[in-house]
Amino acid sequence: MRIAVIGTGYVGLVSAACFAELGHHVTGVDIDEAKIAMLKEGKSPIYEPGLEELITRGLKSGLLQFTTDLKECLPEVHILFSAVATPPNADHSADLRAVFTVARTVAEHADHDLVFVNKSTVPVGTGKKCEELMAEILKKRDMNVSIPVVSNPEFLREGMAVGDTLMPDRIVVGVNGKMDSGQWTGGKDAVHSPLSTVHSLDARALMEELYRPITRVGKPLLFMSRESAEIVKYASNAFLATKISFINMLTEFCEKTRANIRDIARGMGLDDRIGPRFLHAGIGYGGSCFPKDVKALLATAKEHGLDFSIVEATDRINARQRHRFFEKILKTLKPNSTVGIWGLAFKPKTDDMREAPSLDLLPVLLKNGHCVKAYDPFAMENAKKLLPAGISFAQSPMDAAKDADALVLLTEWDLFRGADLRELKAIMKGIDLFDGRNVYEPSEVREAGLRYHGIGVAL
Ligand SMILES: NC(=O)c1ccc[n+]([C@@H]2O[C@H](COP(=O)([O-])OP(=O)(O)OC[C@H]3O[C@@H](n4cnc5c(N)ncnc54)[C@H](O)[C@@H]3O)[C@@H](O)[C@H]2O)c1
Repeated sequence: MRIAVIGTGYVGLVSAACFAELGHHVTGVDIDEAKIAMLKEGKSPIYEPGLEELITRGLKSGLLQFTTDLKECLPEVHILFSAVATPPNADHSADLRAVFTVARTVAEHADHDLVFVNKSTVPVGTGKKCEELMAEILKKRDMNVSIPVVSNPEFLREGMAVGDTLMPDRIVVGVNGKMDSGQWTGGKDAVHSPLSTVHSLDARALMEELYRPITRVGKPLLFMSRESAEIVKYASNAFLATKISFINMLTEFCEKTRANIRDIARGMGLDDRIGPRFLHAGIGYGGSCFPKDVKALLATAKEHGLDFSIVEATDRINARQRHRFFEKILKTLKPNSTVGIWGLAFKPKTDDMREAPSLDLLPVLLKNGHCVKAYDPFAMENAKKLLPAGISFAQSPMDAAKDADALVLLTEWDLFRGADLRELKAIMKGIDLFDGRNVYEPSEVREAGLRYHGIGVAL
C-alpha cells in the first residue's frame, strides 16, 4: 500500500517509519526543509528511542522516503495521513489551520480516489469540515474523485512511541457510515456529507488492510463514527489528566495532615477498579498533549453550552500544583542562591520541551536573583532555544549539583533516579533537595544528610 504522512513531527515521523517497517511504501512530507534534509540523511530530528534505526532501515529498503513537496507523492497515494500540529489558539481552542491547509492542497492536486486520514488531535466535526472543504474544491475543479475523510487519532506516548505504534493497546478508526444494528458500517455504502458524492472508495477496507500486520497479532481495531473517534482522543487525555489531578489534589491535604501520598496512591491503586497507573503525585502534567487537549475539550464544551466542570477542575488543579511547588522552592531559597536543575524535558525519554515545568520555573528563579545550572541528557539543545540567557548548562548531573545551595528534580530520567545521594550531599553546598516527581524515598534522602522536599509528604 502507498501512504503519505504529512507532518514529520513526533507523531507523523513515528507513524511513517513504523508503516514502512510494516512493509508499506511511505513518503513523509514536511514543510520544514531542514527536517527533511536531516531525514533524507537518515538522521532523526527528534529524540525518540528506536526511531532512528527504523528510519535508516526504511531508507535502505526503499520503503521510506521524504520530501517537502506534497504534490510530488500524491499521484500514487492510497491513504494520506495528516499528522500536522494542532496547537492552542489564544482562546484555547485547537488551531486547525495546518489541517485545513493540508486538506486544501490535497483537493487542489488530487486526480484519483484516496483516503484522507486525520491523525492529528482535532475537535469533533473537523473531519466533516475537511470533507466539505475538499468536496467544494474538487467540484470547482470539475474532478470526479472521491476523498473520504477518516479519523484515526493517535495515542502514542513520547519516549515509547515506536512500541506504542507497532503494538498499540487499540487502534481507533472513525469512518463515515450508517448505523446498522448498532454497528457503524462505514465504507462503500456510507452516508456522506451533503457536499460529497457517494464514495466509491471503501475507506474501512483500506484501513483494515493497512493495519492488518498489527491486528494479526491480536491488537484491537475499533471502527466507529468519525465523530466518536474524534471525541475518544480528547476523552482519553482528559480522563488520564483527571486521574493525575485527582491524586495531586490530595497532596496538600497529606502535607497538612502528616499523611504520605505514596501510601495513599498504593492503597488506592491496588483496587482493580482504580489501578495504580497515573496515580503518581508530582508537579502535574505538561507536554504537548494533556494541557492543550484538556483546554481544547473545555473550549468545545463551551461552544456546545455543556458543563464539563470535572475537566475544568483538572486544569485548575494542575496549574495550582505547579505553582505550589515553585512557591515552596522560592520560600526556602536564601537570596542569590545557586540552584541545580535535574531535567528540562516535560518527561523522560524525550527532548520535547512543550509545556515543560522548566520553562516556567527557570525564568522565575533568574528573576528572583538566583543562579541556575541545569542538566538534561537529551533536551538541552531544545531548551537553550527557549530559555532566557543567563542559565548555565552542565555537562553531567553532578556538574549541575556541584556547589549548589539547592537541587530541584523536574524530570524523572532514570539516571537521576539512581543518583548516589551521599555523593550528592558531598558536592552540594546546601542541603535542600526538591523532588518534583517524588522519585526518592524521603528517609534515604534524610539519611544522606539532605533535606527532602517532596510532594504530598510532610517535611
Ligand atoms: N506528540 C505527541 O505525543 C502526540 C500524541 C498523540 C497525538 N498527538 C497529536 O498529533 C498531532 C501532531 O503532533 P506532533 O507532536 O507530532 O506535532 P509536531 O509539531 O512535532 O509536528 C508537526 C509537523 O507538521 C509540520 N507541518 C506543519 N504544517 C505543515 C504542512 N502544511 N505541510 C506539511 N507539514 C506541516 C511541522 O513542520 C512539524 O514538523 C497534534 O494534533 C497532536 O495533538 C501528539
